[in-house]
Amino acid sequence: MPEAADPAFLADIMRCFTDKTYAIPARWLYDRQGSELFEAITQLPEYYLTRVETALLEAVCPHVADITGKSRAVVEFGSGSSTKTPHLLSAVDPAAYVPIDISADFLASSSAVLQEQFPELNILPVAADFMHPLTLPSAVADLPKLGFFPGSTIGNMVPRSSIDLLRAMRGNLGVGAYLLIGMDRIKDEGLMLAAYNDQQGVTSQFTLNLLTRINRELDGDIPVSSFRHLSIWNDRYSRIEAYIEAREDVRFTINGQSFAMAAGEKIHAENSHKYGLRDARLMLRAGGWSPVAEWNAPDDAYTLFLAEARQSKSAP
Ligand code: TRP
Repeated sequence: MPEAADPAFLADIMRCFTDKTYAIPARWLYDRQGSELFEAITQLPEYYLTRVETALLEAVCPHVADITGKSRAVVEFGSGSSTKTPHLLSAVDPAAYVPIDISADFLASSSAVLQEQFPELNILPVAADFMHPLTLPSAVADLPKLGFFPGSTIGNMVPRSSIDLLRAMRGNLGVGAYLLIGMDRIKDEGLMLAAYNDQQGVTSQFTLNLLTRINRELDGDIPVSSFRHLSIWNDRYSRIEAYIEAREDVRFTINGQSFAMAAGEKIHAENSHKYGLRDARLMLRAGGWSPVAEWNAPDDAYTLFLAEARQSKSAP
């Protein structure tokens, strides 16, 4: 195994092909190259999510500050490029900003850019997978927190995992914390599908980059051009599903082991759940967060929720 390889990445990929689960946790899409391709997705005309959420945040952050007050520590989960964060930081004037992201070098460059924009801000980056237990920097231990989870990233988890994560966030941020979370709404199927099957093929590059990453980091020889990207709408599960499909019968090796896939077999690379308002509120409450405010984008395309980790006073 090449030295740089992450053993967890190797284990997940080997399981995917050995047990033929053909499913991988979405986090492995976000190496440096994947994070950059995702940034390109956010600029695509079909990818409404980022544009709609950014405009909404601009309008909403002053109201968030009215409710939460200022000088909290802002903790962002999956901060990526942190391009949406300035709206929030300007409005809530935080005591510290803790961006958490799985791509360490992407995190470092994003933090440096943000520091130039906010020279006074205490930025404490944490390179970690937020799906695993994590420890916040001790400098923010005693500060009240405001969690920030934009991008409808919660939708990339199946409900069981999203609720585990919300509960873990409550544990990490503490009673009295607030969470500002973005969720994409159920809408016209054509609009949703277009956002995950763009004309320019950037989404295709993004998902197929997983194979390139396997080849590079796990000593693989997967013929990437023998695969194609595919996104479908699963109405029963209320989610977009992204797949990497074999166009033809293929054989390849990863880390010295041989595998074969038949034409039409698919690797499930990602889910993106879409929500109704009641689904969203129930999910928040199931995760230990009481919804206190919500703001909808035009046409109910997207919603920002503000929720609070309250000491329970109601019947169990
Ligand atoms: N959080 C993003 C979303 O659900 C991630 C994403 C965008 C994505 N496009 C994708 C994941 C295509 C897989 C495939 O919208």
